[in-house]
Amino acid sequence: MVKVSVPGKVHLIGEHAVVYGEPAILSAVGLRTFVEAERSGRVIIKDRKRGFSEEHSVEEALDFARRASELWKEGKEKGDFSAVREHIRGDRFKLAAAGTALRMLGVDGGVSLQIDGDIPPGAGLGSSASLALAIAKGISEAYGVDSPVEEINRIGFEVEKLSHGTPSGGDNTACAYGGLIWFQKGNPNVIKPLREEVPYRLENFVLVYTGRPKKTTLELVSHVRNLDEEFRNRRIKAIGNATREMLEALKRRDFPRVKELINLAWDNLSELGLSTPAADMLIGRIREIGGAAKLCGACGGGIMLCYHEDREKLRKVIEEAGFRPMEVELGVEGVRIEEV
Ligand code: MEV
Repeated sequence: MVKVSVPGKVHLIGEHAVVYGEPAILSAVGLRTFVEAERSGRVIIKDRKRGFSEEHSVEEALDFARRASELWKEGKEKGDFSAVREHIRGDRFKLAAAGTALRMLGVDGGVSLQIDGDIPPGAGLGSSASLALAIAKGISEAYGVDSPVEEINRIGFEVEKLSHGTPSGGDNTACAYGGLIWFQKGNPNVIKPLREEVPYRLENFVLVYTGRPKKTTLELVSHVRNLDEEFRNRRIKAIGNATREMLEALKRRDFPRVKELINLAWDNLSELGLSTPAADMLIGRIREIGGAAKLCGACGGGIMLCYHEDREKLRKVIEEAGFRPMEVELGVEGVRIEEV
């Protein structure tokens, strides 16, 4: 038996714009998915927290993943990913992830997977990417397949495509590599760990769960894509420029500017129609005390990233607004082996 873990992620800045080729800065967060993996003649998937347990033959798992991949290709041609989404809906995502990983790793056999973790799903914290990567890493370790982080990330991206259609690849990359990362989609993607540029630990950031998003990532990304092109592109460019400037501000440890840039990015995301009444209210209160805040990932609810130099003041405002501040470390380690 091996045990591996993979963190979730937050976008410090750059979500949505990253889909259009602008850069994003993402950080791994101290909430993790854990997977215990063991070789088996079948594919057994258990999730303690969800009380979920399923067993398939290896052929079934491979066929399921193969079908998901075909449906994704058809969806790409049609510009409609609803069939693949339906195929992998809910807990079937795990089977798609396991089947894809078995195929891509070239493993000849099955696996028993025990899943656990503390990343809330569908909240902008990269729960699906983290789970897909943890399953891939667990299988590769159980079979002793040499799989560097690039390879695990490649598998994570294939699985992300099944649930998000045409993701940028930023989420899986941030979860896989860990730390703080500069990501820009391209051919090839630019993946730059910011260890040297930002060698210190990011402090005074607090996360808040603002409620379950009403729409999926796929729907929110499509919503942005369907906006008037000129209206959208102006905001996407503004977010991209704020991201480039954010890196410079982080290098100088210029947190007054970091705050302004988070707020600027949020104003643009909000104009793209990605806010919620709860987010508007909480962000308004945080700005009143001189802080910064924005929803993360696909937005439309989910996790909010908040910053203020005075963390206690920030916590107080969040609590007074009826929310619970989450103390979560940023810049944590990426894919990790816990036990062999
Ligand atoms: C989702 O966590 C982040 C988005 O930018 C989509 C993506 O990067 O694929 C909204």
